[in-house]
Amino acid sequence: MLDSVNDRSGFNCGIPPLDRYFREQVTQDVRRRVAACFVALTDTQRIAGYYTLASACVPLVDLPPDTAKRLPRYPAVPAVRMGRLAVDQDFKGQGLGAALLADALARAARSEVAAFALLVDAKGDEAAAFYRHHGFIGLPESPLTLFLPLATVR
Ligand SMILES: CC(C)(COP(=O)(O)OP(=O)(O)OC[C@H]1O[C@@H](n2cnc3c(N)ncnc32)[C@H](O)[C@@H]1OP(=O)(O)O)[C@@H](O)C(=O)NCCC(=O)NCCS
Repeated sequence: MLDSVNDRSGFNCGIPPLDRYFREQVTQDVRRRVAACFVALTDTQRIAGYYTLASACVPLVDLPPDTAKRLPRYPAVPAVRMGRLAVDQDFKGQGLGAALLADALARAARSEVAAFALLVDAKGDEAAAFYRHHGFIGLPESPLTLFLPLATVR
């Protein structure tokens, strides 16, 4: 969990909006309970990566028909949204992104509050490819929003 003693000022993932959000806005979102933020720290307490989680819901009509037909006929189903995931450029390509994703999935899957899936908002095609590589499925009408059912994770 992000702590106010963690120094966020030097964080650089290479995507300016993700860096700016982390430096300037995330603590307000945490305070207002619109996002929770989790960080990966090095031995020297440097922040190597972060992700955010919040409650969400997905309208049933937005899901692929194959998925929707296995769900109850509610207008929408509950989900957990990973709004942001970023790894500092100094730590890329070492498995940290995958580890943070696994941590987010495990956290969402063991929550006492039920959620059908982890939803992610990819910031572009490259990020979407990262999630697809890990088994996420894009929503038919908005392929940069992807989901992974949590029942399979458990
Ligand atoms: C996307 C990101 C989180 C990946 O983190 P990372 O630590 O470099 O990735 P990892 O080393 O954990 O890679 C894990 C696996 O994903 C694969 N992968 C990494 N980036 C990929 C991409 N863009 N497309 C497809 N696969 C990708 C790796 O090849 C690796 O595969 P393997 O386990 O089969 O060997 C990181 O590059 C990043 O912070 N990018 C900028 C911010 C961003 O795009 N965030 C996501 C959207 S909000």
